[in-house]
Amino acid sequence: MSSKRILVIGGTGAQGFAVVKALLNASPAFTVRVLSRNPDSPHVQSTFTGLPVEFVKGSFMDFDTVEAALQDCYGVYVNTDGFTVNEADELWAGVRIFEIANQIPTLRHFVYASIDYYLQLTGFNKKYGAHHTNGKGRVNSYLQSQGSSTSETGLTWTILNTGAYDEDLFGGPFVAHIDPEDGTRTFALPLGEGHIPFETLQDNGIFAVKIFQDRERWSGQTLNAASHFTTGKELAETLARVANVKAVYKNVSIKEWADALPFADAPVASMYPDGITVRENFTMWWPGFQDSILKPTRDMALLREINPDLETLEGWMRRVGYDGTGKGVLKGWIDAGIGPKP
Ligand SMILES: NC(=O)c1ccc[n+]([C@@H]2O[C@H](COP(=O)([O-])OP(=O)(O)OC[C@H]3O[C@@H](n4cnc5c(N)ncnc54)[C@H](OP(=O)(O)O)[C@@H]3O)[C@@H](O)[C@H]2O)c1
Repeated sequence: MSSKRILVIGGTGAQGFAVVKALLNASPAFTVRVLSRNPDSPHVQSTFTGLPVEFVKGSFMDFDTVEAALQDCYGVYVNTDGFTVNEADELWAGVRIFEIANQIPTLRHFVYASIDYYLQLTGFNKKYGAHHTNGKGRVNSYLQSQGSSTSETGLTWTILNTGAYDEDLFGGPFVAHIDPEDGTRTFALPLGEGHIPFETLQDNGIFAVKIFQDRERWSGQTLNAASHFTTGKELAETLARVANVKAVYKNVSIKEWADALPFADAPVASMYPDGITVRENFTMWWPGFQDSILKPTRDMALLREINPDLETLEGWMRRVGYDGTGKGVLKGWIDAGIGPKP
């Protein structure tokens, strides 16, 4: 019997590539197809060297291409990118790709890689309305209004609400500043006493595989994923212990955090130069962490039951050799030449 084919939308990115690797390493292994706008780029070619992955070239906003890419697939992992398209397009893409998925004869499982709908969780308080969370969150609401079938010919949907990647500590919004004089690592974050719902990319790949492996369990369900909740103080203490370096947490204002970003005033969605800026977007993102609003939404015992290898912050730091030094992780940042180098 040939193995089940999964289309991974966003498969060349930090999150999607971890899902690709997990699907290829699953037992039995899945066959993997990846949608990419530039599969021939040197970065993609070198990242995928030696991996048995087929590519379809195109954008997730080009629905004819998405329809063609879905042919002969059993499942699709949909991680659209709210940092290239805006919140309206991300909502439209999620809805339209689900509609198309329903008409693909072989397709049985639509997995929507999402983010919690912060706006809805807070009574639609715009203080928590970061655009890159809104688009995905609204698709969650749409899917929850749709039927999910586990029949031989039906389509199952599952939402996987992801956490903030631990890998963002290397090359994302949580990068530490290293003092050139004495090497002190400073996490200058506008987090107060709040908790970040971190999820390692390895854990996210495992959750994705578990979902594709058990259609019955995950039909019409939302898996709220995380590896661990961590405060700023814990970040610094753990790094100091693991890497034997001096590390401190400094609570700063959101403005101070944004001022330190060289691209703070660039558009948050690269295809929309007149849209809101990175600064404006993330000013509506940090409050969710400051107020720990996702803490009640994660059942850590359940997550450990689903994934017995769930990573701790310390375990992740030790596994990847994290010592506070940055490196490029997010494809969008690498392509744009921003953040630490790969
Ligand atoms: N950073 C985090 O902690 C975090 C946590 C949870 C969720 N997310 C969400 O993950 C999404 C970004 O994915 P990522 O973190 O893996 O970032 P990334 O490393 O920058 O990857 C972006 C991915 O999106 C793909 N992409 C962008 N625009 C596309 C388009 N129009 N058509 C087809 N593919 C397109 C890129 O593919 P090509 O360039 O090859 O076309 C690439 O695979 C965002 O929506 C973000 O909100 C991020």
